[in-house]
Amino acid sequence: MRLSSPFAVILACALGNVVSRSLPRASSNPAAVTGTRKTSMFKNLAGLPPIPNAAQISAATLPVDDIQGDILIGMHKLQQLFFFFAINDPATFKTHLANDIAPIVASASQLSNVTAQPLVALNIAFSQTGLTALGITDNLNDAAFSAGQVNDINNLGETTDTCDQQSLIDQQVTFLESLFGSSITTLHTLDASVRPGAEAGHEPFGFVDGIAQPALNGFHDPLPGQIVVDPGVIIVGATNDAIARPAWATGGSFLVFRQLQQLVPEFNKFMLDNAPPFEGKTLAQRAALFGARIVGRWKSGAPVDLAPVNDDPALGADPLRNNNFDFTHPDSDITSDQSHCPFSAHIRKVRPRADLNGAAPANTILRSGIPFGPEVSDDEAASNTTTQLRGLAFVAYQAQIAKGFQFLQRAWSNNANFPPRKNVSPGFDVIIGQNKSAVRTTVGLDVNNPTAAISIPQQFVVSNGGEYFFSPPISALSTIFAA
Ligand code: HEM
Ligand SMILES: *[C@@H]1O[C@H](CO)[C@@H](O)[C@H](O)[C@H]1NC(C)=O
Ligand SMILES: *[C@@H]1O[C@H](CO)[C@@H](O)[C@H](O)[C@H]1NC(C)=O
Ligand SMILES: *[C@@H]1O[C@H](CO)[C@@H](O)[C@H](O)[C@H]1NC(C)=O
Repeated sequence: MRLSSPFAVILACALGNVVSRSLPRASSNPAAVTGTRKTSMFKNLAGLPPIPNAAQISAATLPVDDIQGDILIGMHKLQQLFFFFAINDPATFKTHLANDIAPIVASASQLSNVTAQPLVALNIAFSQTGLTALGITDNLNDAAFSAGQVNDINNLGETTDTCDQQSLIDQQVTFLESLFGSSITTLHTLDASVRPGAEAGHEPFGFVDGIAQPALNGFHDPLPGQIVVDPGVIIVGATNDAIARPAWATGGSFLVFRQLQQLVPEFNKFMLDNAPPFEGKTLAQRAALFGARIVGRWKSGAPVDLAPVNDDPALGADPLRNNNFDFTHPDSDITSDQSHCPFSAHIRKVRPRADLNGAAPANTILRSGIPFGPEVSDDEAASNTTTQLRGLAFVAYQAQIAKGFQFLQRAWSNNANFPPRKNVSPGFDVIIGQNKSAVRTTVGLDVNNPTAAISIPQQFVVSNGGEYFFSPPISALSTIFAA
C-alpha cells in the first residue's frame, strides 16, 4: 500500500453517556454526530502522563481553542478511524469545510473538558498535495512536508475519527461521505482501537506505550524526569518556533502518519530463541528480560535503567517514577556501561537523555498513535507466523519534521553507531532501526555479556506506508482554506 492522500482527517469519539444528540437534518441527508458527554471519551491509562485538565487548559498561553485536540491529548484514545481521501472538487470541498466541518472540529480545550467533549471528535489534516489542490500557496517552510513522505523512502527506510463507540464513528463517516459526495474520493481507511482488557495501553508487542512525552513549557505540569520543551518545538508559531511561517498557521502542527505493521508471533519467537542464560530464571522470564532490554522498558512500562533484572509493575504504573531516569549511575561510566539499559534499546535510541548530556530538546515529538488489528490468534501463536494485519497507527506531532520524526528515525534509530560510545558500536534499534534492506546486528542485549553482538533475523516492524500532513489551526479552516 502506498498512501499519497491529499489530506487526512482525524475523527475521534467515545462510548456511552450521551447527554444530548441533535435530530437528523430535515433533509434525507445523513446527520453529523453531535451532542456532548457526561463521562470522558478518554481513558486515563496506567503509567501514562495524565490528560491535560480544564484548569491547565484555561491557564494556558497557547491558543487552545484553536489547536486541534489530538495534538495535545496524547495516547489515551480508545478508538479511532483514519480516513484518507483525495479532493476532486476544491470549490465544493471548501464550502463544506468552512460551513459544516470547521464548526465540529474538536479543539484541545474541548477535549480536555468532559462537559465540552463531543460524541465523536473530528480532527483534520492536509498533505502538501491537499493544500495545493485547495490553492494554498503559502510556504509552511518544512521541506519534508512539501516533498511528501513517499519521497523520503531513502531517508527512512489521513483523516481520523476517534471515539469509543464504533457505531458513532460509522455514522460520522457516513455523514462525511454524503456531505462531500463526489468532491472527494476515499483512498484508504484504517480502524484502530485500544487493545482489550488488561492489554489496554499496551502496543501489539505487549509493552505499555505513550509513557515518555514532552511537557510543553508553560502548559503541562512536568512530571519527574519528563523533558520540558518550548511549545514551538511541537506547535507551529508558538514560543521559540524559529521558522518563518504564515501567520494563519500559528497553532498548527505537522502530523507524521505511518501505518506500521508488527509481526508479533515472529518477535515472540525471536525473544524465546535468543534469550541468554540467566541463573534462576525460567525461559519465559529470560525472554521477558531480553525483550525489556530491546525496548528499554518491561512490558509493564518499568524502565530497565531503574529495574535492570526483574520487572517492577508498580514502578511501571507510576507516572511520578517511571520516567525519572537518565542512564547515569554512581560509580559507572555512561560511555561504556550497559548493565542497566543497552545503548541500542528503542527508548535510548530515540531519546538519549544523558548520553547527549540531556541536550537535544529540539529533537522531540509528541506521540499520538493507537494500535490497529486483531489480537494474535491461537493459530498464529502456535505457528509463529503472522496471518492477520496488526500494528501501530503511528502518529507524531512536531513543528519541524526534519528535527522530529525524520531525525529520530534516520539519524538515531537507523544509525548503528549512535549514540557514540567508547569501545563499542551500539548496533541497531531492534524495534524500528533499518539498515537499508541489509542484515542488522546489534549489541547490549545480553545482560551478562553486553558487548556480544547478535544478528537480527528480520524486521519485526514493517511500514505499510504513510504521509506527512499539516494539522492546521481550526480558525484557518473557515478563513484561508475557504478563500
Ligand atoms: C511499531 C513501532 C513502534 C513500537 C512498537 C514502539 C514502542 C515503544 C514503546 C513500548 C515505548 C516505551 C514507552 C513510552 O515511553 O511510550 C516507546 C517510546 C518511544 N518511541 Fe516508540 N515504538 C514504535 C515506533 C516508533 C517510531 C517510528 C518512533 C520515531 C521515529 C518512536 C519514537 C519513540 C519515542 C520518542 C519514545 C519515547 C522515548 C523516551 O523519551 O523515553 N517509536 N516506543
Ligand atoms: C467546560 O465546558 C463547559 C461546557 O462548554 C463550560 O461551561 C465550562 O466553562 C468549561 N470549563 C472550563 C474549566 O473551561
Ligand atoms: C515456534 O517457536 C518456538 C520457539 O522457538 C518453538 O519452540 C516452536 O516449536 C515453534 N513452533 C513451530 C510450529 O515452529
Ligand atoms: C549494515 O549492512 C551492511 C551491508 O550493507 C553491513 O556490512 C553492516 O555490517 C550492517 N551493519 C550492522 C551494524 O549490522
